[in-house]
Amino acid sequence: MKKRILGEITVAPDKSISHRGVFFGSIAKGITRIENFLTGEDCISTINCFRSLGVNIEQKGNTVTVYGKGILKQPETVLNTGNSGTTTRLLCGLLSGYPIQTTLSGDDSLNKRPMKRVIEPLSLMGAEISAKDGNFCPLTIQGKNRLKAVSYTLPVASAQLKSALILAGLHADGATVLREPELSRNHTEVMLRSMGADIQSIGKEIRVNPIETLSPLELSVPGDISSAAFFIVAALITKGSELVIKNVGVNPTRTGIVTALRKMGGNIKEENKRIVCGEEVCDLYVTSSELHGITIEGEIIPALIDEIPILAVAAAAATGTTVVKDARELRVKETDRIRAVCDMLTVAGVTFEEFEDGFSVTGAETVKGGIYESYGDHRMAMSEQILSLLSEEEFQIKDKECVNISFPDFWGLFEQITKE
Ligand code: S3P
Repeated sequence: MKKRILGEITVAPDKSISHRGVFFGSIAKGITRIENFLTGEDCISTINCFRSLGVNIEQKGNTVTVYGKGILKQPETVLNTGNSGTTTRLLCGLLSGYPIQTTLSGDDSLNKRPMKRVIEPLSLMGAEISAKDGNFCPLTIQGKNRLKAVSYTLPVASAQLKSALILAGLHADGATVLREPELSRNHTEVMLRSMGADIQSIGKEIRVNPIETLSPLELSVPGDISSAAFFIVAALITKGSELVIKNVGVNPTRTGIVTALRKMGGNIKEENKRIVCGEEVCDLYVTSSELHGITIEGEIIPALIDEIPILAVAAAAATGTTVVKDARELRVKETDRIRAVCDMLTVAGVTFEEFEDGFSVTGAETVKGGIYESYGDHRMAMSEQILSLLSEEEFQIKDKECVNISFPDFWGLFEQITKE
């Protein structure tokens, strides 16, 4: 019998905001308190790196206290950034502006991800960074007391790259000017401004001025729209579903998924909109919908980049064909997510076409069970579990525990709201 989704939940705290709370709290002077911190593996990697850099950080459940002194000490060991691209790239930018030598390395997936995108502009700013084949971890950074301010156009819309350069810009000898090809998530700008940094954003241009001291933060982290996306799609694609997701971050640089799903015919309501710590937050009401295919391309892509695997699941349940283009960046995520989505659709027996920068999916009457590879990628494993709602057959998802990277409660919540 087909299943439906019923209930009221909160989802995992926002990963991007949790990372940044620890990063910026560590370099501020004073005590930063973070409520509703994400205790997923990626954010724990960030905490451990800053502990190795001499910062006293207490974690009690979801509450994290960072005792920032505005200084970082030379670590005794390699900084292990685990599976986390955000930890690695932001650290690269930050550590370029401290006169210490550090080495960063992560797991097999992380060590295959491109770092040249941060190394090149940081080298222009005067940092000395060496990397395996000039592009991969382990990276060794010889930071400088003062970096050179630059004017730089980012080759990709990447919030990790932008944030690395903003952090370096805080330690530069003048105004650093950055231009993005498309707007990417702006949590770094929002949070650093609230800590006293002089960062101006005009359209796709960001101007960062150096600062001596950042003030500490009182931060309450909203639910992660990227985690909510799995259950939003689950409720949309199953008949007779009604789901409420409380306290979700809906910063406009992150809500491409809501825009795209509404365009596909999805019934998603935002209620009780409010601003918490400079970020828009609301409660989402989602009901079953008849979805239809659309084309997703251009400037919306960075605003839903992490949600494209689950969008492929929505597309498999929709009538007609959904096309995703301009999403080449997916090739260099935790795994090659274009390939991984196509592999998932192959097992499912759903018609698709793979492009260099995306894919097309044609909605299917039935979805087959079978053995699904997650490639250790949290967002693939969760997408595959939601896909299973469309099938009468058994799904076996490999390396399921990888969801702990961003959403440790995923399986429990799935059980809680899935009804016969
Ligand atoms: C993130 C930025 C994005 C996103 C990642 C988190 C961040 O990566 O995919 O999950 O917190 O800055 P890119 O900067 O590579 O686009």
